[in-house]
Amino acid sequence: MLKVKKIVTLAVVNGPNLNQLKSRESEHYGRKSLHEIESDLKTKFKPEANLIFFQSNHEGSLIDFVQDALDIDGIVINPGALTHTSIALRDCLIAKKLPVIEVHLSNILAREEFRRKSYISDIAVGVISGFKDQSYHFGVRAMIDYLQK
Ligand code: DQA
Repeated sequence: MLKVKKIVTLAVVNGPNLNQLKSRESEHYGRKSLHEIESDLKTKFKPEANLIFFQSNHEGSLIDFVQDALDIDGIVINPGALTHTSIALRDCLIAKKLPVIEVHLSNILAREEFRRKSYISDIAVGVISGFKDQSYHFGVRAMIDYLQK
């Protein structure tokens, strides 16, 4: 029997400094702006997913967004530097009780020691790190498949 797949709604959330990708280290973060990445994702996943984008440089604003987000099925998040510091963001993601996929443009395990610690990884379904803008594509793909399985 033909199975009709549900269109999922995902929040794609970005933390501090990810609005500045064009002027950051391209060897780590690639050459696309966040706006370009978001636009590529929207086009690519249009038939399968509604994507809601949010970026903030402020920890509290990210937490408010996650707390207040209604009718989403999952969260794909690049918390930026908050990955390595924010117990508050971790706690709010746990409280949301939705699947989370952590993404990073750079390979955080191949950089400075302080980037090896993530407060998010162990509460996430999975982590995608090191594929520059493609990390988001893999992250959204993985979340759609996870939700539809
Ligand atoms: C990042 C990695 C973090 O360590 C860094 O602070 C960022 C970006 C990434 O996408 O590779 O801002 O999350």
